[in-house]
Amino acid sequence: MLTAEQNQLVTSIGPATPAGEVLRHYWQPAVLAEELTGPRPAKAIELMGERLVVFRDEEGRYGLVARHCPHRGADLKYGRLENGGLRCPFHGWLFDVNGACLEQPAEPPDSRFHTKITHTAYPCREANGIVFAYMGPGEPPPLPDFDCFLAPDEYTFAFKGFVDCNWLQLLEVGIDPSHASFLHRFLEDESSDDNYGQQFRFETEEGGIPITKVLREYDCPDIEFEETEYGLRIFALRDLDEDHLHVRVTNMIFPNAVVIPMSNDMMLTQWHVPLDDRRSWWYAIFSSFSEKVDKETMRRDRLELYSVPDYMPRQNKSNDYGYDPEEQRTETYTGMGMDINVHDQWAVESLGTIQDRTREHLGSADKAIIANRRLLMKTIETIRNGGVPEVARQNGGPPLKGPVAIDTVASKEDWQADWREHDRNRRAQSGWAPDPWA
Ligand code: FES
Ligand SMILES: [Fe+2]
Repeated sequence: MLTAEQNQLVTSIGPATPAGEVLRHYWQPAVLAEELTGPRPAKAIELMGERLVVFRDEEGRYGLVARHCPHRGADLKYGRLENGGLRCPFHGWLFDVNGACLEQPAEPPDSRFHTKITHTAYPCREANGIVFAYMGPGEPPPLPDFDCFLAPDEYTFAFKGFVDCNWLQLLEVGIDPSHASFLHRFLEDESSDDNYGQQFRFETEEGGIPITKVLREYDCPDIEFEETEYGLRIFALRDLDEDHLHVRVTNMIFPNAVVIPMSNDMMLTQWHVPLDDRRSWWYAIFSSFSEKVDKETMRRDRLELYSVPDYMPRQNKSNDYGYDPEEQRTETYTGMGMDINVHDQWAVESLGTIQDRTREHLGSADKAIIANRRLLMKTIETIRNGGVPEVARQNGGPPLKGPVAIDTVASKEDWQADWREHDRNRRAQSGWAPDPWA
């Protein structure tokens, strides 16, 4: 439970808000690379309460600039992409990706006025289908050596989706291992071939237990977590028999991403990015170790659930998320279909656009959520005192690696060594994935 003041502190993310400052110290997804293709690669976006325009210049460089022209405030969404930048259609001022004003054609030819103008611009970098932006102070940190960035393009797939609520409750569903046994429960395990790229869908793991059965029949896992250099490593431990545990390892990359296993070969890295205090995007990179990702199938499946180019979920509040009481009685825990994205969408949006955390009652299953809020508040304090966040900033240290996300069966005696060993084997076979423990 938080006080009203604390809740406001962790959920407000506009410029100069404490949590907004925290988020701005890290690279954040701004747009999918696929949104900037076509004849005019420019788009108005909102990110952390700021109105911006993202574009690609003729050399393919990404620019992210404030939406309103510094001359008299016209809307650069309608800018002309030409001559090395984005040109305001009102009086022709031209800005490059760094915000430099290159031309002011209505000023006298010998005027140096343009050199005095710098438009707000944020550095961008593309990585495996997502264009990331750095909106914080100083030099941006390097992009970490996370698996989702190191994986060759053919082993990845990126997508995004809209969520009608504050960013933090969206993150908190990703670090809440106990909900999977309920919210994503399937009442029967049908063996099926069409589970490619889906989480918790009839995956038969080593040892022959479908993950759906593990989640359903062992619904009170022991939850443990540890602080790491990137954030939190979270364990959900299910007691399978005298000698074995089911170990599910998930991660929180501070301050707003999660890394979770999709299957033995695929994992999901997902950022929860605020448009403003009340609306968010999830951005995801799916990455696989051994088999190249079938991007076409992944995309087709997602387009069944989301419309483009607005990336809106087809099952949403306006159609009761497809809720069917008969399905709820016989097939799924929610009655909202087989796709877990829909379940999560309902769960986070049903908390209200900004969850009122003064009214919640957290139990021991919620310990990772509590740990994360502590970390966030501690980091807010660090920044308020003029410091830089410790977690997930490389600060000149070795690149951050992994994080490892895995579902596996381990011996009770040595489960900590076992899950690492299973991950190592998978990486040894993959051809690209480095050993994060080296
Ligand atoms: S308002 Fe943009 S050039 Fe004048
Ligand atoms: Fe979920």
